[in-house]
Formats: sequence, C-alpha cells, structure tokens
Amino acid sequence: MNLDELKPILAEIQADAARDFAAVGTQDELRAARSRYVGKSGTLGKLMGTIKDYPPAERGQVGQLLNQANQALQTLLDEHMRRIEQADLSADASQAAAFDPTLPGTRAPLGGVHPVTAVQWEIETIFERLGFTVEAGPEMERDYYNFEALNIPAMHPARDMQDTFWCTNGLLLRTHTSPVQVRAMEKFGAPLRCIVPGRCFRYETIDASHENTFHQCEGLMIDRNVSIANLIAVMKLLLREVFQREVKVRLRPGYFPFVEPGFELDMSCLICGGKGCATCKKSGWVEILPCGMVHPNVLRFGGIDPHEFTGFAFGLGLTRLAMMKYGVRDIRVMNQGDLRSLAPPWRLEGPTVAEWS
Ligand code: PHE
Repeated sequence: MNLDELKPILAEIQADAARDFAAVGTQDELRAARSRYVGKSGTLGKLMGTIKDYPPAERGQVGQLLNQANQALQTLLDEHMRRIEQADLSADASQAAAFDPTLPGTRAPLGGVHPVTAVQWEIETIFERLGFTVEAGPEMERDYYNFEALNIPAMHPARDMQDTFWCTNGLLLRTHTSPVQVRAMEKFGAPLRCIVPGRCFRYETIDASHENTFHQCEGLMIDRNVSIANLIAVMKLLLREVFQREVKVRLRPGYFPFVEPGFELDMSCLICGGKGCATCKKSGWVEILPCGMVHPNVLRFGGIDPHEFTGFAFGLGLTRLAMMKYGVRDIRVMNQGDLRSLAPPWRLEGPTVAEWS
C-alpha cells in the first residue's frame, strides 16, 4: 500500500470511529469500540505494524500520518468518555431528585400492652390502694390446693364443674386461681388481704366465649368481722374503677364449695349494651365475679380459726373483663398473638369500641 492509498483509508477509519463512538452509551461499550481501532488488533493498530514494510524514505511520513490519525482517535475517545461521564452523573442526580427525604417513612406496627395485662395492672393499682398485696402461685398445682383444701373432696360432684388437665406427674394445671387462697393463708395467716392475678386452664372446647387458657384474678380478704356488705362494697368499687362509670350489676346465688354463701355477680354486657350477643350468650349479662364468704372449712385448711376470723373471696374473670373493657367480641383473639389485639398505650385511656369481631 502506498502513501496515497493510505490517506483515504485513514480518513475512513476516523469517520468509522467517529460514528461508532457516538453510538455507544456506556464506558464499557466505549472501551470495546476503542479496541476495534487502536488496540493491537484494531484497524489502526494493525496499520501501525506496517510502517516497517514501507521504503525507508517514506517511513517518516507514514509514521506521521498514522500518529495524526491515532491522536485524532484519542481526542475523539476523550470527548466521548466525558460525554458518557456527564450522562452518568445527571442520571444519578435525577435519581437523587426522585428520592424525597421529606416523605414520611414506613411506619413500624405499634405494639403495646396486652389487654389482659393492662386490666391486670389497673386492678393491682386499685387493690393496692385498699391495702391488698399481689400474690402468685404455681400454674401446675397439687390436687390438694386446687380441690381438697378448697372443700372439694375427691368424690365431690363439684369437681365436674371444672374439666381439668391432669399432668402425667400427678399434678394438674390449676383450673382457677383459688388454690392460692390457701397458699396465702398458710404463708401469711390472718388478717390477710391479697389479690392473685394468674393464668388458669380448663379442658374446654374453644369458641367465641370459651378458652382452655384464660386469666383470673382471685381476691381474698380475711379479718375480724368481715361481712357480705364489705364484699359487695369492694366489688362495686372495683367495677366502678375499672369501667370509670356505674356498671349495672346483679347478684345471684351461686354455688362454690369454698364459699358460703356464694354468689354470682353479673354485669350488664357492655359489648351489646345488654341486648344479647355471642359474648354474653345472648343473655345481656356476663358472669364476671363469682364470689362469696370464705367457707369455714377453707379457713381451717389454711390454719385460720373461723370463730375468730371471717373473709370474702372472689374470682374475677380477668380475660372476660378485658374483653368487656376493650370491646373484644371473641375470646380467641386474646391468645392468638395478633398484634392488632394489643392495646397501644393510647388505647388504654380511649373509649371502649367494639372493633374486633
Ligand atoms: N374459683 C372459682 C371459679 O373459677 C371462682 C370463685 C372464686 C368463686 C372465689 C367464689 C370465690 O369458678
């Protein structure tokens, strides 16, 4: 190839390169395009290797031409590299503009105190003001405390009232918080004022108003001259404080072997306003406070002289009370662990709304 033929070829290479470089959009593509021209195997690169084939007199000129072409390509490459870098930068910038830091973030779900815990705390506060202590007992209990010492002997028909989970170790899951009555009597003697919030278990078929695991709050007051009047006064105070209003109640005779006389204290159902719903079994009333005067036998089991001391006891259905207070219609909600059933702090003061069905 002579000098005259070389010139148009170089011009053509430059024109090709200019078109190629202009067509690429990324730095990688530009580098790939570059190697098609200036790399060892690129079109211009290969021509560089042919200088030695020219007659010595022409080599200087050929070299000059090739160098010029090479420089021109290099300039072109630099220009396009800048173009691509600019484009990249402005793409970043427009992405940054699409992110608005003033937008509110995604809210994490707000959990809170379980309704039963909330009501339990409230009740503890109310009774602490009345000089009661808060006691606890084992959830896995001995037959003696759950039945025997509560005046429910082995063959007593009252045992049928509570379907019991028996454990293989001979113990049982306590069916109420009443066993702690006798435990507290043994521990503290008389006079005695305590409440016992805690979990209880019964072998129940679960539906909207029955659970096999639920909370009660036992209450016990033993002193000289404690009477039914004291019992009723304390029960009314309790409900008034918890619901922050006068709640309609009714007292029925109720049978529990460990109290004499025994009562069922019902309150008008706050879920349906007394009209009748699943929670109140369509009756308009909810059994919430079985109570009574401690049976002399139970005092004796606890080591207390029934001639000197009398007392009242109650077994508040804590789970049911929480349902009433927070408008939970279905008891199953209480053990499901659904975060929506937890009462965030602001709900504790809020009105009672029937929100869950
Ligand atoms: N322990 C009884 C129950 O769970 C309730 C109760 C407690 C009744 C105290 C009277 C006095 O059914």
